Amino acid sequence: MTAVPAETPATDDLLRVEGLKVHFPIKRGIFFDRTIGHVKAVDGVDLAVPRGSTYGLVGESGCGKSTLGRAILRLVEPTEGRVLFDGTDVAALKGEPLRHMRQRMQMVFQDPLGSLDPRQNVESLLSEPLRAHGLGGGTAGIAEKVRGLLDAVGLPSAALRRYPHEFSGGQRQRIGIARALTLEPDLLIADEPVSALDVSVQAQVLNLLEELQQRLGLTFLVIAHDLAVVRHISDVVGVMYLGSLVEQAPADDLYEQPLHPYTRSLMSAVPVPDPVVEESRERILLAGDLPSPANPPSGCRFHTRCPWRQETRCDDEVPLLRELAPGRLVSCHWAEEIRDGVLHPKSPDEVAATMGVSVRATGAEAFETDALVQGVDQPIERT
Ligand SMILES: Nc1ncnc2c1ncn2[C@@H]1O[C@H](COP(=O)(O)OP(=O)(O)O)[C@@H](O)[C@H]1O
Ligand code: SF4
Ligand SMILES: [Mg+2]
Repeated sequence: MTAVPAETPATDDLLRVEGLKVHFPIKRGIFFDRTIGHVKAVDGVDLAVPRGSTYGLVGESGCGKSTLGRAILRLVEPTEGRVLFDGTDVAALKGEPLRHMRQRMQMVFQDPLGSLDPRQNVESLLSEPLRAHGLGGGTAGIAEKVRGLLDAVGLPSAALRRYPHEFSGGQRQRIGIARALTLEPDLLIADEPVSALDVSVQAQVLNLLEELQQRLGLTFLVIAHDLAVVRHISDVVGVMYLGSLVEQAPADDLYEQPLHPYTRSLMSAVPVPDPVVEESRERILLAGDLPSPANPPSGCRFHTRCPWRQETRCDDEVPLLRELAPGRLVSCHWAEEIRDGVLHPKSPDEVAATMGVSVRATGAEAFETDALVQGVDQPIERT
């Protein structure tokens, strides 16, 4: 790990994202040369991740989380905005400095089987990045380092001779994490790291990530469509809707009192272990599906589904992400009135009738899979 400087600045952000936009052109025509519009996958995101902390990014499938992660790593080029890694503008880097920066930021993917070469055994998977970067200090040094990595992720050294398909999902994710750690990164971007795993195994992998963070001083950006996944691991949680952040707060505050109507509806779909509470739990249903990021609604992007939508401002004025309380950012014109119970939600049927759409539940059970975007996630290119 890179040593933390003796004089740490007051705001010690390892990662800063400023006004980031990623718009993908939509091409039509026989030669795919006519741009007929843009998918606004990420549309103006600002966030900061202090060194050694975890930022949890949540939102429905298709809201732009993976694209944001990929843009940070420069696997897709931002349309606008900046990514500052340890104070350096990532876009300005080329050649050796870019290679070095990529070494310091690594990604853990949802599907380790898709991101690990099936023809390489674990030893080869873990030693290859070291050899490619001329690290590890020769064959004996690399072998020792690889054994250390396996040990760190809780796998026996007997795993070295085996191939990815011979492991269970949870073990494979451990290999994926070990591989991401080979080059001693400072930042790990974990994109849906446990979404493909059983719930019991999810907790083990999340615990492992937390333990590694403490031991190695890592900084994390953990992406998930499931609020429950980022809850315990995150210091700060950001909620994304159609390419933008709608709310950001310290994790405990967000779960205790979600302020944005979208966060409130997501939270209402998370099951509660206590059967009595679960029985009486208020579920906020949303009207309609996630609108297309190629043609997002005007004003507040959530207005087509929002139970609190008002006649004024919501449809035509874009709400800013503003600080409602220390550390609590919300982009809703009516956040204070909603928090204080001055405004009341409409039923989903009423919203649906106004918008001419149908009603559908939010939350884990209603989220679509990431099938749409699988295959877009590639291992980090080693240039
Ligand atoms: N390479 C690409 N080209 C065009 N559209 C893309 C590309 N990658 C993602 N998208 C679109 O951008 C939007 C956001 O996708 P993504 O970032 O994968 O969302 P999430 O990770 O939150 O599910 C989706 O509508 C998706 O179809
Ligand atoms: S600005 Fe209006 S539509 Fe948007 S979240 Fe707030 S109340 Fe709902
Ligand atoms: Mg994704």
